[in-house]
Amino acid sequence: MEVFETVDGFSRALESARAAGRTVGLVPTMGALHAGHRSLLARAAQECDHVAATIFVNPLQFGDPDDIEHYPRTLGADLAVCRAEGVASVLAPSVAEMFPGWPAPVATTVSVAGVSEPWEGRARPGHFDGVCTVVAKLFSAAGRCRAYFGEKDFQQLAVVRRMTADLSMPVEVVACPTVREPDGLALSSRNVRLSAAERRAATVLGRALAAGRQSVAAGERRPGAVADRMAGVVGSEPLAELDYAAAVDPASLAVPDDLSAAPAVRLLVAARVGPVRLIDNCDAPLPDRALVAAGAAEKGRT
Ligand code: PAJ
Repeated sequence: MEVFETVDGFSRALESARAAGRTVGLVPTMGALHAGHRSLLARAAQECDHVAATIFVNPLQFGDPDDIEHYPRTLGADLAVCRAEGVASVLAPSVAEMFPGWPAPVATTVSVAGVSEPWEGRARPGHFDGVCTVVAKLFSAAGRCRAYFGEKDFQQLAVVRRMTADLSMPVEVVACPTVREPDGLALSSRNVRLSAAERRAATVLGRALAAGRQSVAAGERRPGAVADRMAGVVGSEPLAELDYAAAVDPASLAVPDDLSAAPAVRLLVAARVGPVRLIDNCDAPLPDRALVAAGAAEKGRT
């Protein structure tokens, strides 16, 4: 495994891999690697010949100075994880390598209108511009590849997909399912900041999603009613403070008027638990309309 501190070295290594006929799988991360990140690396190793990981705590995407200051940094352990997962090239650049002149403002940034505006976009102004700017730089360094992103950050995935399509980047974005603790809490590098009591309280996000899913399965089609059901579950946990709960269209992240009109439904929840803001999401399958119609017709005959 080769570890690069410069974008140029990393970029040349991936170029030679492609020149030798190898396909490249890219996994962008901010380090503090856990089983969620590992699942992305393993999937990339399954599907690509040459796996490349990036480890960079991107200052552009943090609004809250407390969050970036406390963000865990564990480069030695992260490199061991990459080695164990069969990564061939790692880019671990300094802030000066990625953004010379930082903290002076970066002149060229990428922003995606629409899908980046609600939810996390509203709660964290500038966050997705920071994500898109760094991901665009990483895609440009990596060149033609498949890039693996977790559904854990569902809106990020949607925003990155939009950017990649709109800017005709030669990158195929691949979505990977959320990896969870046995009690349902989605793995996150920020979970280490939770006290024992907060850690127990944090399971409320998973419980809220399960309740929302259940209400859709039971036939609720008003997105506001599904959101209220999730908000009620979060509200029952004294250590959690709800930010938002919503039932949305998975592509646009907009709230449809009526869930029966939507091709699919995604449930989103965000809440603060102690010092940490946590997010989670899941799908909410709508019963297959063809099956429902067939079932009704069948009933009509008997
Ligand atoms: P980071 O939070 O380190 O996450 C890196 C990737 O791992 C993201 O695609 C994220 O969705 C995925 N991931 C995190 N937790 C996961 C879990 N429990 N299950 C499955 N996948 C999970 O997301 C970022 O970094 C940054 O915004 C980045 C894209 C690297 C740009 O700076």
